Amino acid sequence: MAIRSLKELALGGRRVFCRVDFNVPLDGTTVTDDTRIRESLPTIEHILAEGGRLVLASHLGRPKGKRVPEMSLEPAAQRLAELLGIGEVVLTDDCIGDGARKVVGDLRDGQVALLENLRYHDEEEKNDEAFARELAKLCDVYVNDAFGSSHRAHASVAGLPKLIGEKGAGFLLDKELAALDKLRTEPAKPYVAVLGGAKVSDKIGVIEALLTKVDVLVIGGAMANTFLAAQGHSMGKSLVEEDKLPLARAVLQKADARGVQLLLPTDLRVGTGLKDTVAVDSGLDLDATSMALDVGAETAKRYADVVRKAGAVFWNGPMGLFENPAFAAGTLAVAEAMAACPGFTVVGGGDSVAAIQQAGLASKYDHVSTGGGASLEYLEGKKLPGVEALR
Ligand code: 3PG
Repeated sequence: MAIRSLKELALGGRRVFCRVDFNVPLDGTTVTDDTRIRESLPTIEHILAEGGRLVLASHLGRPKGKRVPEMSLEPAAQRLAELLGIGEVVLTDDCIGDGARKVVGDLRDGQVALLENLRYHDEEEKNDEAFARELAKLCDVYVNDAFGSSHRAHASVAGLPKLIGEKGAGFLLDKELAALDKLRTEPAKPYVAVLGGAKVSDKIGVIEALLTKVDVLVIGGAMANTFLAAQGHSMGKSLVEEDKLPLARAVLQKADARGVQLLLPTDLRVGTGLKDTVAVDSGLDLDATSMALDVGAETAKRYADVVRKAGAVFWNGPMGLFENPAFAAGTLAVAEAMAACPGFTVVGGGDSVAAIQQAGLASKYDHVSTGGGASLEYLEGKKLPGVEALR
């Protein structure tokens, strides 16, 4: 069944429950990156302009069913109020119960409230039906704008919408799916995927799926270490998933059999620890005291050349320990090449998005996803529970 868009829903005078992903990074009580909040503003402003009584709901962090004050959505409520230019966004004490019902019941047309962290209840992550029914008491119309959480089969994402007749996708969810659908169905060639980050095990699903789609698969980050170790290189103190060596070998064979160019580093930047301030150029075989912390200069140039000439590029995961300036060059080279690429460019994933923001390049890509895990699972070809529940 087709998913209805926000514009097709009758919102005026109704309680519109909108699941957003306000799982934003905090420094104490300050939101340090408000991208996810800003990206949901078109949906929020539309609902308010239509006279909806807006009930926003989100998780923040992983409090595992406990009231952890550091994971309150208060800073997000404050930031949202600033962005909307209103004095206050009321935050309920709890996401369910009499208090929440009272706040929601008092909303007038065009007013907004935010429910406190959904994950203060472990029923959220368990997709508990009774909990979803409690949330349903706050809801006439359901909208999902939480792309970043849509791969989670949790109560507010998957259970609740099944209980509500009138439901649809917010503008952010629509925008995310449209961009990723372009990569899923008609990527311009050559289609290049760049994957980095720490572990092969986190990305194996998407690697296998991408091997059937891409022309070139570029691997960097600590994940590359496992591939290099699988090829027989000594990786010193580097992070290597020893138990994934056979898996890495199988991936290399599959890429070969499919005619996919799988690019691995040919040189590295190494240090003796994560806090080193100077990077040492190195070949692929490291001594026992060294650890690979970035791809080398020659590799960065090779990767950048491939990315710059791509018809479509998807990038998830940094090439090295970019938060340490000594080991940021590989990640920046990819970010800059992608910004200069005339093809269709999509960046997904917390760390790579942080890197492009740090480099001031975020506006140069066709799409910057607000969902790391969600964009990977969607590209893998998986159905996202939060999307399916809207059908
Ligand atoms: C994210 O930040 O990726 C989403 O908000 C999902 O959070 P989670 O990984 O804790 O489910």
